Amino acid sequence: SEIELAGIAGAYFLGSLSSAIIVCRLMGLGDPRQEGSGNPGATNVKRLYGSKPAAITLLGDMLKGVVPVALANMAGWSPLAVILVGFASFIGHLYPIFFGFRGGKGVATMLGVMFGLSLPIGAAVAGTWLFVAKVLKISSLSALIATALAPLYIYLLADGNMAWVSVTAIMTLILFWRHRSNIERLLKGEEDLIKKS
Ligand code: G3P
Repeated sequence: SEIELAGIAGAYFLGSLSSAIIVCRLMGLGDPRQEGSGNPGATNVKRLYGSKPAAITLLGDMLKGVVPVALANMAGWSPLAVILVGFASFIGHLYPIFFGFRGGKGVATMLGVMFGLSLPIGAAVAGTWLFVAKVLKISSLSALIATALAPLYIYLLADGNMAWVSVTAIMTLILFWRHRSNIERLLKGEEDLIKKS
C-alpha cells in the first residue's frame, strides 16, 4: 500500500543518519571515515575514540533498525513490507543520502532489524555475535558468522517466513560484500583484535 511505501522510504532516510559520524561530530572527535579502518561504525569508533562514543554509536545504529521494523510489525503490515522497512534502513546506513552515500557496513543496523522482527530472532543473532566476539575477539568475523546464521535462525524461529528469510539472506550477502577488506585481512591473519578500553 501507499502507507507501506512511505514507511519504506522513511526508513531509508532514518537509516541514512550515520550515528558514528553524528556522534563523533557532536562530541568533538575526529571523522571515523578518515582514520582507522575508515568505517563509520561502532567498531571503528571504539578503536579510535574508546568505548563511550562507540556504545552510543552502536545504540543509535541499532535503533535505526529496530524502531521502524517494530512499528511496521505492530501495525500489522505484511511480512514482506515489514522486512522491506528493515532492508531500507540497512541500505540507508550503507548508502546514506545525507553523507555522500558513503556509510557503514551494516552490522548494528541489521542486528536492530532482527530485534524488530522478533525478540527471539534478535537475541539469537546478537547472542551469536557476542559469543563469537567474546571467544575470538574479532568484530568483523563475529558479524560474518552471526549474520550468515541469521536466515537459518529466522527460518526456525519465524515459522519458515520466506519473505523474512530471503530478504535477510540478501542483507547478509550485501554485508559480506561490505566486509571484503575485512575478509582479506582475516584470510591474511591481519584483522584487528577488539581491545579492552
Ligand atoms: O561493524 C563493522 C565491523 O564488522 C568491522 O568494522 O572498523 O573493523 O572494519 P571495522
